[in-house]
Amino acid sequence: MEMKLNDMRDSKRTWEPGLTRVPYWIYRDAGVYRNEQQRIFQGPTWNYLCLEAEIAEPGDYRTTFAGDTPVIVVRDEEGELQAFENRCAHRGALIALKDSGKAEDFTCVYHAWRYDLQGNLKGVAFEQGVNGKGGMPPDFCKEQHGPRKLRTATVGGLVFGSFDEDVPSIEEYLGDTIVEKIERVLSKPVEVLGRFKQTIPNNWKLYMENVKDSYHASLLHVFFTTFNLNRLSQKGGVIISETGAHHVSWSKVDHKPQSNSAYSAEKLRSDKEGYTLADPSMLDGVDEFGDGVTLQILSVFPGFVLAQIQNTLAIRQILPAGIDKTVLNWTYLGFTDDTPELRRMRLKQLNLTGSAGFISMEDGAVGGFVQRGIAGTDEELAILEMGGASIETQDNRTTEASVRGFWNAYRGYMEI
Ligand code: FES
Ligand SMILES: [Fe+2]
Repeated sequence: MEMKLNDMRDSKRTWEPGLTRVPYWIYRDAGVYRNEQQRIFQGPTWNYLCLEAEIAEPGDYRTTFAGDTPVIVVRDEEGELQAFENRCAHRGALIALKDSGKAEDFTCVYHAWRYDLQGNLKGVAFEQGVNGKGGMPPDFCKEQHGPRKLRTATVGGLVFGSFDEDVPSIEEYLGDTIVEKIERVLSKPVEVLGRFKQTIPNNWKLYMENVKDSYHASLLHVFFTTFNLNRLSQKGGVIISETGAHHVSWSKVDHKPQSNSAYSAEKLRSDKEGYTLADPSMLDGVDEFGDGVTLQILSVFPGFVLAQIQNTLAIRQILPAGIDKTVLNWTYLGFTDDTPELRRMRLKQLNLTGSAGFISMEDGAVGGFVQRGIAGTDEELAILEMGGASIETQDNRTTEASVRGFWNAYRGYMEI
């Protein structure tokens, strides 16, 4: 009965061509969610899996996800990166249970089927039966069974995986500029400073849009403007890849006092004068990349973010976990050659970001406000007209161009 209702509703769901309107059902529909898993996360895209540094030695592995599909990524005996579904070919149990570890092979706990580091099924317990009885039929062929494998590729020490045989190379997928901006930050060996998981109550696309939305930063995050860290009047812009799939939003802090007129004129929440930090050392930073860029938020479609905010370096892996549930896996990075002073600065600045970060806690909430706000509507549309209708790179951030870029790529993959 429920299927029938869904089907009826689906048939009324249409979306005019264009990128300046987004129908709210796109965040609420079970059929859309299933299609996204097929066409995007298991389609010709690259999913971020882990850092090379996290699986440096043969046998090192991590368990991760491509969309909502569980995946094992492992360095094999030859030092090659391998990735395959974390799903036993027998009855579907997780093959590896821990977040990470070191293994010579993987044995499923349920009935002890065993896989090598390439994901090939190598052992079936009691295959020949016991005392001549039972066992698998003689024509059972282990080579014909096993978890699906992913292609892997790396850029700047980031490991990506794809289920699609025909996916373009990672360099082609990202384009020169995005590769260059990844390598601008990840140019030397990294060290994981910490990680955590944040679950947010909204569709994954709302979070991805938020990441790409350079318009909201200085409005929603009052810490930024209150302490003069990021205003749209600062030098900055958005760089958008050809199809709109990936983006970079960047800015340079200008330590000169700035005019607040654009903010006061509009009576914004961020118009607060006279506030200072009791301990300004939290914002102490250095221009470690030598170009004065203090903020570079970079996204890779469908669910990867590399953020440099002053000296904090963080990766966010955005994983759909249901129509209105998204898991963010945060990984904080430093470099192995950090001086103790620089490491202290990074750790202190980490207060700015993360689930309770002074400049990012609101992002964990606002997607939920939208998800709750759009309950019960199938026909209404969001407006994305800031900065026009294009998805072009521009030298200002008062624009929703990179969000429109997301939808351009999304509609392409979804053929919607
Ligand atoms: S489910 Fe893995 S061995 Fe049975
Ligand atoms: Fe934000």
